[in-house]
Amino acid sequence: MNNANRKKRKSQRKQKQLLNLLLLTAVFFCLVLGILLILRRTRAPETEIIQETIPETETETLPETESETIPETTEEEILPPGMVSGMTLSFYHIHLHESDDSVMPLVFMQPEDALDLSEIWASSDEAVASVDESGNITPESPGNCIIWVTSAMNPDVFAEVSVTVYPDDEELPDPEQLCSGFSEEDTTRNDIQVIGGITYVQGVMLVNKTYPLPSSYYPDGLTPETKEAFSELRHAASEEAGLRLFSDSDFRSYRTQVYLYESYCKRDGKEAADRFSARPGHSEHQTGMVIDVNWAGDAFNDTEEAVWLEQNCWRFGFIVRFPREKEEFTGYKYESWHIRYVGTEWAKKIYDSGLCLEEYFHVSSRYS
Ligand code: DAL
Ligand code: ZN
Repeated sequence: MNNANRKKRKSQRKQKQLLNLLLLTAVFFCLVLGILLILRRTRAPETEIIQETIPETETETLPETESETIPETTEEEILPPGMVSGMTLSFYHIHLHESDDSVMPLVFMQPEDALDLSEIWASSDEAVASVDESGNITPESPGNCIIWVTSAMNPDVFAEVSVTVYPDDEELPDPEQLCSGFSEEDTTRNDIQVIGGITYVQGVMLVNKTYPLPSSYYPDGLTPETKEAFSELRHAASEEAGLRLFSDSDFRSYRTQVYLYESYCKRDGKEAADRFSARPGHSEHQTGMVIDVNWAGDAFNDTEEAVWLEQNCWRFGFIVRFPREKEEFTGYKYESWHIRYVGTEWAKKIYDSGLCLEEYFHVSSRYS
């Protein structure tokens, strides 16, 4: 009896040990599985980072009044192969008589071998000029409007043609410049070049009310030269004068400028906005060579920092782009904070001349 009991107890113990072993093995596998799952999850974002959108500096301060913060938008995703990434047009401005035939800008999509090169056309005012699905722009009645062309494949890629329609009995401002965005000074000068929709005067990128950038132009922040020069400028301001200079706003995309300009127009009206805010495509901020220093507003004028900047920024390759009393040439009110990188050679020449950039290079700055 005792023997039978002992045997029974022994077999019960064995069963228990076996169960414990099984339990331990199950716990071990669960643990391994759990660890593997955690590892997989932590690795996943690495691939997502590649496709992450690039944030942009998004603040601009309104002259004279309070500052306004622009909501963060996302820009420029890394595009899959075959996707349209940019667009340039054969012209961006046109003057037409109301009975003129249709005209069609040529569209160059980048890359040329994108999978779908088709376009979507639209007019901001069909009563002034209509546009068909092939891009034929037909004048309808006197006025101004914008013709938009957007890539069907990538709606983030678009460009605009500014159209002015004149009554038949009114002379066009310059009959020779039909299908040209620029004024006579540009078509007759050999020191002005237009490459990929971007204008250069004697090699200096030119962006103002006359000369726009393609909407697709996106240097993705300040250019390395501008960044480096601004860092040296800040260092000198601190060492030589104990001043703290910093960027309030620098690179802005075409899309950000659409938002800004429209906000200003709503707040102050178009006429007032045009004196301090560039229309989309016409802002130098899109070049990646401009910095609004410390405070983009009239409160910055006459500060110690503004005076130092005015007297010294040329040493680092910058010019105060919209100087005092030069609005008739630049098209903008005095902006003591807005400096443009042009390289040390040009900056010195322009500073020494006492002229603004438009006067120095004999170029205009006015919307057509
Ligand atoms: N404030 C300057 C003119 C700009 O908007 O680019
Ligand atoms: Zn500015």
